[in-house]
This record gives sequence, structure tokens and C-alpha cells, in this order.
Amino acid sequence: MPEAEVRFTFGLWTVGNRGRDPFGFETRPSLDPVEAVHKLAELGAYGVNLHDDDLIPPGSTAAERDSIVARFRDALEQTGMRVPMATTNLFSHPVFKEGAFTANDPKVRRYAVAKTLDSIDLGVELGASVYVMWGGREGVECDAAKDLRAALDRYAEGVNLCCAYVRDQGYDLRFALEPKPNEPRGDMLLPTVGHALAFINELAFPEMVGLNPEFAHETMSGLSFTHAVAQALWHDKLFHIDLNSQRPGKYDQDFRFGSEGLRDAFYLVKLLEDSNWPGMRHFDAHAYRVEDHEGVWDFARGCMKTYLILKEKAARFHDDPDIGEALEAAKVSAIAEPTSPNGLGSEAIAAIRYEQFDLESLGAQGYGHERLDQLVNELLMGVR
Ligand code: GCO
Ligand code: MN
Ligand code: MN
Repeated sequence: MPEAEVRFTFGLWTVGNRGRDPFGFETRPSLDPVEAVHKLAELGAYGVNLHDDDLIPPGSTAAERDSIVARFRDALEQTGMRVPMATTNLFSHPVFKEGAFTANDPKVRRYAVAKTLDSIDLGVELGASVYVMWGGREGVECDAAKDLRAALDRYAEGVNLCCAYVRDQGYDLRFALEPKPNEPRGDMLLPTVGHALAFINELAFPEMVGLNPEFAHETMSGLSFTHAVAQALWHDKLFHIDLNSQRPGKYDQDFRFGSEGLRDAFYLVKLLEDSNWPGMRHFDAHAYRVEDHEGVWDFARGCMKTYLILKEKAARFHDDPDIGEALEAAKVSAIAEPTSPNGLGSEAIAAIRYEQFDLESLGAQGYGHERLDQLVNELLMGVR
């Protein structure tokens, strides 16, 4: 049973994933969100997150919506489960096939904003304090068909409208942009964490907007997810996270956390734990298509268990004397020392220029990375 202090959450769409892929139909029956809440609570999760459509089937009447929400709230109350994050499905319906916030047709854009505002109300009603924006259809296959700079204007406008609404309502809600390089669009806007961080600076309310990076998405681009998360943390913009796993160069696999790239998963967990990041450990992944219902719960258990094991390994990393020695040899703690101990003034800069550098000995020193790296492998392989 996971420890209480690690707050694990799952999207309703993750355990509810029915195994459909571009080549094959669903392999699992649909899962009642109320059952998902009970089962995840039993497994030790802290909460669930949702898209509007995950809970309320599109086309429901206002009365149907209210009774679905009431029944769902009951399950939350019975189990003590929370809904820390909510989001909008702006990708499934054909109306969004050419984009949502960045569709060429203004009518589609306004519908996307209206749907998002309804979904924000729902999220806040359920207690969410983070709102994820994943622009699943914001992209292009035919470059001739999109003025990319104008599309970014419209993307920013869409986010600004949502921020303005949240401010008007006095909601306590922050937005987290989720980058992704491709899939379902050939090329997507805000493809990486770096693009999204730069985009935030151009928004009307940049302090309300941060990141929801996903392990699979940076990995699809061949980038280090841990580096991306570290930079988001450095900017104070890690508002949420999507944990899963992925092999580089493949379609968006959304596999069980740690099932691929165990070392990368370890460095990520170490980063989150070392930085005392207070956010939810949210899994945006799903069970293999070959699984039945039972396999889905094995998948959910596995995500949490792997995280906890890696958290334990991260603690051991700090306690292991050989690793400590190797860290010293690598001068790891010296990076905290400022390059210019006397600041940015002209004297401080002059002092750097007049310093004597023994290039021969500086160039000759070894850093012991082979030993350190091997020690980490041994730690992960369970022999230390
Ligand atoms: C993906 C995406 C989605 C979003 C989710 C929230 O796998 O491509 O990560 O799962 O995170 O839909 O909008
Ligand atoms: Mn995601
Ligand atoms: Mn994904």
C-alpha cells in the first residue's frame, strides 16, 4: 500500500482506457467513473483527474449532468478521494479536426473556449486547483493551410480568455500547458517544454500559467524528460506532471511508469523528491491493449509501486558512502559555488580575467563518471 505522503493521482481516462488503437477496436468494456474512484482509493491513490467528457457524456442535458456529478461526488466523499486537476477534451469531436484554440474558423475557436469554460466550472466544482491544457488538435499536416504566427496569436488569446474568466470568477485555479511534438497532428504547436515556457512569457497573465510536462512527450522528441522538468522547476513553472513511459522514436506509448527507461524514471523521481516538489504524482498512462479489467489494476498498482521503489532508491543514493565518494570526485557540490564570488561588478569581472589558470592540470583531471554511473546502475539493479 503506497505511503500516505506521496499523492498519486490517475486520470479517469487512464484506467478507463479501453484499448482502442488506430488499427483495432476496443478490447475492454467501459469503466464506470464511480467504480474507478472506489478501486483507485482501495489501491491507495489520492485522487482522480478528468476531462469534461470522461465524466459527462457529450450531449447530456443539464439535469443529467447534475445527477452524474452528484453521484460522482458521493463516491469522492465515501472514499476521501480528490480531484486535484481537470481538463477539457478539445480533440475527440470532429469539430476540432482542424484545431480548437487555433482553428482557422473563429466559430470553432469560440466553441472551444465555451467548452473549456464549462469544463473549468466543473473542475472547480469538484475541487480542482490545476487546469491542464493539452492542445491535441493544435497543429497541422499541410503547412500551407496554417499561418503559424497568427495561430500562436490565437493560441495565446484562447489561454488569455480562460485566465480572464478565472480571474472574473475569483477561482483559485492555475493553468498547466502540456507540450507534445506530434500525434495526433503531424506537427503540433508548443511541441516541447522549452517552446511552452517561452510562450508563457507572451501571455496576458503569465503568473497563472505553467507546465504539465509528460514523460512520453519529451522522450518522443529524443529529449531528456528529467532535464525538461528540471528547467520547468527552475522557472517555478512545474504546475503538474504526467508520468508514464516511452521509448524514443515511437508513437505516444503512454506505458506504465517505469516500464521503459527505468534509469530515466529513477533520475526523474530523484529530481522530484530532492526538490521536495509538492505537486501530485499523476499517471497519464494506460494498460497494454492485451489486458482485461484485472490487468488494468495491475497496471495502476505497478505505476505507484515503481515510483515508491525509485523514491527509496533515491534515498539510498544519498546514503551510499561509495556513491558519496564518487560524487565528491565528480565535484558535484561545487556547481553550487558562484562562478564569480564577488558578483557582476567590473572589479569582479576584472578579477576573473586576471586569475591564473593552470590549463594543464585543469585539463588533466579525471571526474570519475564511469565509476559513478556504474554505482548508480548497481543501485538500480539491487546489488547495493
Ligand atoms: C497524450 C496526452 C493526453 C493529455 C490528456 C489531458 O497522451 O497525448 O498526454 O493524455 O494529457 O488528454 O488533456
Ligand atoms: Mn498527458
Ligand atoms: Mn501521452
